Amino acid sequence: MKPTPGLRRQFIQSLAVMALSIIFIAVFGSYVFYAIAMAYLPGSISETWMPSRVEMIWIGCTIIAALGMAVFVAVRLSRRLISPLNSVAHSLREVAQGRLDARAPLDDQAMGETAQLVRDFNAMAERLQSMTREREFWNAAIAHELRTPVTILRGRLQGLAEGVFSPSSELFEGLLRQVEGLNHLIEDLRVLSLNDSGHLEVQRSRVRLADELGSVLQAFATPLAEKGFQLQQELDAGLLVECDAMRVRQALMALLENALRHADPGNLRVRLEQADGDCRLSVEDDGPGIDSALATDIFEAFRRGDPSRSRKSGGSGLGLAVVKAIAEAHGGRAFWQPSASGGSCFVLSWPLRQ
Ligand SMILES: Nc1ncnc2c1ncn2[C@@H]1O[C@H](COP(=O)(O)OP(=O)(O)OP(=O)(O)O)[C@@H](O)[C@H]1O
Ligand SMILES: [Mg+2]
Repeated sequence: MKPTPGLRRQFIQSLAVMALSIIFIAVFGSYVFYAIAMAYLPGSISETWMPSRVEMIWIGCTIIAALGMAVFVAVRLSRRLISPLNSVAHSLREVAQGRLDARAPLDDQAMGETAQLVRDFNAMAERLQSMTREREFWNAAIAHELRTPVTILRGRLQGLAEGVFSPSSELFEGLLRQVEGLNHLIEDLRVLSLNDSGHLEVQRSRVRLADELGSVLQAFATPLAEKGFQLQQELDAGLLVECDAMRVRQALMALLENALRHADPGNLRVRLEQADGDCRLSVEDDGPGIDSALATDIFEAFRRGDPSRSRKSGGSGLGLAVVKAIAEAHGGRAFWQPSASGGSCFVLSWPLRQ
């Protein structure tokens, strides 16, 4: 785009040109006027301080020409300044009244700072609209996720109260699972909202991370084996890492839960290594992988991959968003890449030295 000149330069240029033109008309015009008057109308020049009729006409014409130029410059400049300001003010009122799709048109008159103002206003309105959309989406998604467990709990408890169900340990275990699911959901939402507001604190300490992760893998060993996964651990035992071990364990748990839920049984490689000054934790499965178009989306809250599989597996879509939040709180990142065996490789990496 061609850079537009600043408004200040426009003002200085226009006023300077106008002043020079008026001086030119007044000074040189008068020379020409007297030269012509002396040559062709010698009697028409006044001898006293009182101008003659012809001189009066010349003075009148000069004043009208100067005024005309001043008005022309003023109108041109004010149009450049006022019309974009008016359109921003108009759209601002609409936004204030809740019509967030209002945008100020950027016409040819706007230049320099005023064009920038229109662009900034439109960018702000766009951001406001997308934030509102995001908030509505979050509210609807949270309500949706809470509805199922709460309905189940209510039904079972009502059945117990009315004597329809007889109290049994299986029934209570089922109720407890629903409550644990709710607890999990609330904890994930808490981490995400803390991260959004920049308050997700990580309590860093220097730990032998392989030991910390080993305990998580031990806890998952039985459910993974039951599902038919062969767990392969490649943890750099000597690696001392500065991190919040509790949060990193939480991230690994989310990734292992995902493997249990979404991956096909096969090899599951969990690797902890040092690469280019980063600490890298990766979880790699054999399939079915993720459509690469969705690969960045699934790290957003409430986003799920293949709808037919995800509905069956019944997750909330918060696990990977939490993993990403934990990586970012450590100054790192979380991403997906296809694994060599056609599955998924989820990577969490953050700088070893802070
Ligand atoms: N190992 C994997 N293989 C294939 N797809 C996966 C894998 N891990 C995650 N996904 C896809 O990414 C989506 C998002 O995962 P995420 O962990 O954020 O949510 P979820 O597991 O559905 O629910 P939650 O973790 O909140 O219980 C999943 O719905 C699934 O479609
Ligand atoms: Mg998950």
